[in-house]
Amino acid sequence: MRLDIISIFPEYFAPLDVSLIGKARERGTLDVRVHQLRDWAYDVHRTVDDTPYGGGPGMVMKPEVWGEAIDAVIGASAVPGGARGGGHVQGSDEDEGRDGGEARATPQASAPGSVVPPPVAPGTDAPGTVEPGTVEPAGVEPGTGASATVASGTPVLPRMIVPTPSGRPFSQELAQELAQEPWLLFACGRYEGIDSRVMEEYSGRLRVDEVSIGDYVLAGGEVAVLVMVEAIGRLLPGVLGNAQSVVDDSFAPGSMENLVEGPVYTKPPVWRGREVPAVLLSGHHGNVARWRRDEAIRRTVRNRPELAAALDPAKLDKHDRKL
Ligand code: ADE
Repeated sequence: MRLDIISIFPEYFAPLDVSLIGKARERGTLDVRVHQLRDWAYDVHRTVDDTPYGGGPGMVMKPEVWGEAIDAVIGASAVPGGARGGGHVQGSDEDEGRDGGEARATPQASAPGSVVPPPVAPGTDAPGTVEPGTVEPAGVEPGTGASATVASGTPVLPRMIVPTPSGRPFSQELAQELAQEPWLLFACGRYEGIDSRVMEEYSGRLRVDEVSIGDYVLAGGEVAVLVMVEAIGRLLPGVLGNAQSVVDDSFAPGSMENLVEGPVYTKPPVWRGREVPAVLLSGHHGNVARWRRDEAIRRTVRNRPELAAALDPAKLDKHDRKL
C-alpha cells in the first residue's frame, strides 16, 4: 500500500519509522511518503493560510497551495500558470522552518525526481499505471465511491482522507475498508481547516472522505493521521506476527462486533497475591473462549453502554443474555 501525507509538519511523522509500521516500511508492505505542503507555496514566506471569508477567528488554509500539492502528488498536470515548487519527501533536510522560501518563490518546473511519482506496478515500467486487473474495481468513475480507477493503462488515483473534527467517525470498520485500498492520500489541515473548495474540487476526481478520530479538537490533522495509519497498517497482510490478533480485536467484524476485549494476563500465575483466573490455566479451549466472551460483554456493558445497547440480540446466545 502506498501512503502519501501532506502536512506543514512532516517531522510529526517520525514515529512511522518505528515498530510494526517501521518494519512494514522496511519490508516494502507500506510505502510512506511525507510531503511538506509549504514546498508548493509561492511567496517568499511560503504562506499556506489566510483570513477566513465572513470573518471570525483563526486562519484558513489556502486552496491554491493545496491544489498544487495534491496535483503534484497524484501526478495530475499542473494548474495553469505552471508548476510551482517541488515535492518533499520525509528524510530530506527541507523539513524545518521557512528558510529557502525565496528559492521556492521562483516557479520550479517539475524537476526530475522533485515530486514522488505515482505507483508503478511490479513488472511494468510505465510510471503511474497499474497492470490491468491488479486492483478492483475497474473503470469506475471518480467521485462515485470508487477510490481507484483502473482499466488498461489508466492511472490509479488515491483515495483522499482529510482529518477534521467535522468528518465521519473513524472506526475499525473504516480502518478495514481503507486497508483494502492500494493508495491513500492524507491531507493534514491546521488552523481552522482547509478551504472547502479543495475537497469539492477533488471529490470530482478522487474519492474524498473527511474523517474524525473522535469528538474533541486537535491542533491539526497530523496526530489523527498517525492514529489512522497505525490502525490501517496493522491490518495489512503480514504486518502483525499473528493474523488471529486482528480477528480477536475489540470491534473486529464478526464475533467482536460492538464489543471491547476483556482483560488479559501473562506469567507469573500469582503476582502480589493476585491470581490469574483459573480457567485461563485450564487448557480447556471451549471454556477459555466462553470466559473471554463473557468478559468482553461485561466490559462493554461497564465501559461502553452505548455499544452494549447496540448489540444485535439475534447474535447473542442464552449465556450472553444473562450477563
Ligand atoms: N483535526 C483536529 N481535530 C481532529 C479530530 N478530532 N479528528 C481528526 N482530525 C482532527
